[in-house]
Amino acid sequence: MHNFKVSVITVCYNAVKSIEDTITSVLSQTYRDIEYIIIDAESTDGTLDVINKYKSSIAILVCEKDKGHIDAMNKGIRLATGDIVYILNSDDSLCDENVISYIVDEFKKYPQADLLYGKIKYIDLPEYFSLPSSQHNYLIKAKRDFIKKALCHQAVFARKNLFNKIGLLETKYKVCADYNWLLSVFSQPDIKTAYVDRYIANYYCQGASFKNRYACRLEKIRINYKYFSFLDFLAFLLYFAVGIISIEKKKIELFFARLKRHSKKMISFPVALNLIKYRFSRPSPILSYGPLSLTLWISDRCNLNCEFCLRNKTAVDFRYDILPEMTMETFKKIMPMFKTAYAISFMGQGEPLLNKNFFEMVEYAGRFKKTMRLVTNGVLLDERMCGRIMTSSLDTIDVSLKACSAEDFQKITRCPAPDYEMVLNGIKSLIKLRQQLKTDKKIAVSYVLYKSRLSDLPKAIELAESLKVNTLLFLNFIPFGAFDSSGSKEILFEDDKETISFINALKKIPRKLEIIWPVLLRRSNYSGYCFSNFNNLCIDSAGNIGFCDRVLPPSKEYGNIFTDKDVWNAECFVQMRACLLSANKDSDLPLRCKLCVDMSGDKSRAGK
Ligand SMILES: C[S@@+](CC[C@H](N)C(=O)[O-])C[C@H]1O[C@@H](n2cnc3c(N)ncnc32)[C@H](O)[C@@H]1O
Ligand code: SF4
Repeated sequence: MHNFKVSVITVCYNAVKSIEDTITSVLSQTYRDIEYIIIDAESTDGTLDVINKYKSSIAILVCEKDKGHIDAMNKGIRLATGDIVYILNSDDSLCDENVISYIVDEFKKYPQADLLYGKIKYIDLPEYFSLPSSQHNYLIKAKRDFIKKALCHQAVFARKNLFNKIGLLETKYKVCADYNWLLSVFSQPDIKTAYVDRYIANYYCQGASFKNRYACRLEKIRINYKYFSFLDFLAFLLYFAVGIISIEKKKIELFFARLKRHSKKMISFPVALNLIKYRFSRPSPILSYGPLSLTLWISDRCNLNCEFCLRNKTAVDFRYDILPEMTMETFKKIMPMFKTAYAISFMGQGEPLLNKNFFEMVEYAGRFKKTMRLVTNGVLLDERMCGRIMTSSLDTIDVSLKACSAEDFQKITRCPAPDYEMVLNGIKSLIKLRQQLKTDKKIAVSYVLYKSRLSDLPKAIELAESLKVNTLLFLNFIPFGAFDSSGSKEILFEDDKETISFINALKKIPRKLEIIWPVLLRRSNYSGYCFSNFNNLCIDSAGNIGFCDRVLPPSKEYGNIFTDKDVWNAECFVQMRACLLSANKDSDLPLRCKLCVDMSGDKSRAGK
């Protein structure tokens, strides 16, 4: 019997994180007669290095600019010489190694079938998104089934000659060209389709196609209008509207549930109104809501001298003026100015617990029902201090653990090794008091990871587990501090395979502890949303404002809450937000922002 050749096409652009899974899922297929075609749009993030590792098993590799991914898919279809064509995105992977042999057998069983389709496994589906029940039944009996169901190319194998009959994908559709193509297939009665009750591909919901689902829905309206009868089109619009309303409702419920988890405090009316305004507004340079959180730089004095801290002279263009600590008078002026802010972080370019008014500030902010977080180096956490903290209105205590041994602590903080014992004992006291007082305050430890200390990762996890903290947060190193020009070599980059495989191996081990893994930095193509610039306002002891608590701390050149009107929409903020929302981030972003992981495309941090 004729043996089918199957052409599998993957189009990609800057997909270093996922492309290896995609490629290996194709190359590990038990079916041998596969022609693997990869069309890359000149990736710059190391994707090509990954592809080249498998070059000998790739039949056709095209690396050139294209007019979008639909154009690239068409390129692949034109080059395909197989009997059957399948398109797999670089975010997705085949479910198991027998998918293609199974499909070939099915084509042999149904020789009249022009197209076979199966099921998709949705991976990392967002909490707010539940699949409609109609989507659990994948079988499509008639064109009008597309009112409630979705079929995507990841589930579909087509005979090559079907493209001669129907044509290629229409590039005027930027996201849903495959849907348009499939609807035209299902609109022609002489074309035979068959359903196979089997999972075909893992569809990663954090991938590009899922993220574009709103644009996709709008395209679907245009497409369905073309193919549906008037009544079917109305039914589709109704179903579409109900779907969007139920997703938005679920998102709002989850948003408030998340806030409640953070803090059991009642939310005041101005805070709730501000949160709702935020929830329903689109990111724009001028914001209609006020800051959701304030980071207050209450102390620039410090009892440690960490080698990586921005208090030191730095490798990046960085100058920070050390100011006197925030007074109670200033704090009392700030609070009523930001009644709509939900949370406060006590920080500083120093140690907040050194501010003698710290507990008075916590008590005062408590009257405004703020959710409060302290970031401390932990050196002052003796029994008395721990007692005051655990009986205060603070909600989260984040102790930044500088090292995993006294010896390293001494090297990193350039302070006496016994201080390390104080920090560990302090965390233990906090945990003990949490049990005794039965409070639900969150105790977290954070750890700055840099490349030459990557091997600390397992030790840091073990230590945090033994301390029984709630959360361990790894921060990627930002090259401030007493590192010379070698500083940038210490950053953890997203294309560093050694780093990725080291971290991935650790991620596989199940743990009780919540671990927030380091976000790895991109070298270019910044796609981040930057939580801080849209949600958070930093204020120092002189009332100067800053963009974020990582790389752009307060400075009088940005603005001042006491002398400027509407600092939240000050010119510098507006310019910065416009840059973050523009397509041209690569050229316009300040160097320091390019060193911040918020620019690395993890939009989930935006928390909407
Ligand atoms: C600047 S400190 C101020 C609060 C307090 N002194 C402390 O160390 O926790 C705030 C946080 O920034 C982190 N940090 C300091 N320098 C950093 C760097 N170069 N890269 C990443 N995080 C850094 C600290 O570890 C800490 O978690
Ligand atoms: S990281 Fe914190 S503890 Fe270390 S020197 Fe900077 S401000 Fe002080």
